[in-house]
Amino acid sequence: MSANNSASACAGAEAPLAAAPAASAGRGLFLVGASLELIDLAEQLGWRVRGVIEAAPPGRDYFGYPVCGDDDWLLAQPLTPEERRVVIAPDPPLVRRRLFERYAAAGFEVVTLNAARLKPGTVLGPGCVIAEGAHISVNCRLGRGVRVNCRANLMHDCRVGDFATIAPNAVLLGRVTVEEDVYVGANATLLPGRSVGRGATVGAGAVVTRDVPPGRVVKGVPAR
Ligand SMILES: CC(C)(COP(=O)(O)OP(=O)(O)OC[C@H]1O[C@@H](n2cnc3c(N)ncnc32)[C@H](O)[C@@H]1OP(=O)(O)O)[C@@H](O)C(=O)NCCC(=O)NCCS
Repeated sequence: MSANNSASACAGAEAPLAAAPAASAGRGLFLVGASLELIDLAEQLGWRVRGVIEAAPPGRDYFGYPVCGDDDWLLAQPLTPEERRVVIAPDPPLVRRRLFERYAAAGFEVVTLNAARLKPGTVLGPGCVIAEGAHISVNCRLGRGVRVNCRANLMHDCRVGDFATIAPNAVLLGRVTVEEDVYVGANATLLPGRSVGRGATVGAGAVVTRDVPPGRVVKGVPAR
């Protein structure tokens, strides 16, 4: 990962982004929320991270990347359509949903970062982030803004709804359905054909043997 961005590249509204140095190659994007892992992933995939969008005093930097300002600041910038690209970092589904919808309504492309090899029949919605080491098998369908973290494993014919988060090492066995805004914790296992209702949370290490109703928090083995 290179961290050759200038801390002054987007220091404040008085320093317009049009003046930002186009130093490195690659198409540019802004990272909404600080995440060195996502900076690394974006760069591995050939993107140039122009800056981090966070509420912080102007002039700060994040591991050498300029912290530009908050969401209001970025949304107020006179950007060309080509410059309106973001990746959204936060992990909680509802936070990601709110940011995604706000940026999409303002004409931003919410970029997909996919480090996995896409298998036949598998489709990703816009703005998904699939971390290195994640595995997604055949005939899976992921909605908008889905996060699949490192070493998570989705077997065949899974459905994952908009803004769901699948934490590291979670395993969705075949034909599992995870609805919108669900959080599946690290190392959880969802047995074949089970479904997790909208907005539910599956605790770390849980084994889901029965369908989980919407909004419920389940944990343990078997998950209750
Ligand atoms: C299940 C979970 C959502 C519950 O969160 P919470 O409501 O704040 O729970 P608390 O920490 O207050 O714990 C409540 C009880 O549940 C137990 N508990 C918490 N998480 C548990 C888990 N994953 N499995 C089994 N028991 C768990 C606690 O020991 C505690 O038990 P006690 O009342 O007998 O002391 C959360 O612990 C969890 O597992 N989140 C997933 C985190 C994760 O995977 N993050 C990935 C980051 S990359």
